[in-house]
Amino acid sequence: MTDLSLSQMAVEVLTTADGREKTALSRAHAKRWFEAREAGTPLPVGRAEAPLRPSRPETPRLLDPRDVPRRRPGTEAGRIAILHAVAHIELNAVDLHWDIIPRFADTKMPIGFYDDWVKAAEEESKHFNLVCDCLEAHGSHYGALDAHAGMWRAAEDTVDDFMGRLAVVPMVMEARGLDVTPGMIEIFRKAKDDKAIDALSIIYAEEVSHVAYGSKWFHFLCGRHELDPKGAFHDLVRRYFHGALKPPFNEEKRAEAGLPPDFYWPLAAEAKSPL
Ligand SMILES: [Fe+2]
Ligand SMILES: [Fe+2]
Repeated sequence: MTDLSLSQMAVEVLTTADGREKTALSRAHAKRWFEAREAGTPLPVGRAEAPLRPSRPETPRLLDPRDVPRRRPGTEAGRIAILHAVAHIELNAVDLHWDIIPRFADTKMPIGFYDDWVKAAEEESKHFNLVCDCLEAHGSHYGALDAHAGMWRAAEDTVDDFMGRLAVVPMVMEARGLDVTPGMIEIFRKAKDDKAIDALSIIYAEEVSHVAYGSKWFHFLCGRHELDPKGAFHDLVRRYFHGALKPPFNEEKRAEAGLPPDFYWPLAAEAKSPL
């Protein structure tokens, strides 16, 4: 087991279908990585072929976002639907964090890059389990409802563009999580659901660093290629991100994560113009 490279461990996680099994393996591999780091004998990053799409359980059924029914947040069914959607996001996030390692292993990076990505993958695995525990406390489970099919699209679109991946996944998609999570916590506060409040509060606190890792390594690569970070970010988001950047933005948490307003506001203004 300890002979595995980091890329091989990533592929093992990506090719495990069941959510609880995937996240258990993810956490075990993260532990292995950090134990080797602390012992001063880091595992090699190595090479392994990442699948274009990760293995996923038979349920949930993955539907076009337009076909996923919307439910009212003020109802029990609505709150279960929110938790189910968050669990789906977290499972995608586990795969997204592991995928980047073998996918771009040909780009030489400092070892701290891998520390950040493995730590974030470990946290996403914890998030998935916390939200699954909440679903189960409500008599539901991950897979009981339908989920969005489009979430892996950002990975496929940026399959050969490392900087594009960093721009779209942590700096747009995970930053969006910082904008919307306080509103979700409020919904569960009104419902006096302490378990969900605790889970979402942990997610909210830890996601700041995931966005920060994205910004840090995006800036690092801009420096390596002598690119203007803001201009490069705008170009890559225009090329690869198909949704709209929607205000209101959580400017305080975005700033804490190293995302200044002139990165995202110009893109939000564009999304509003009728094109
Ligand atoms: Fe997360
Ligand atoms: Fe995250």
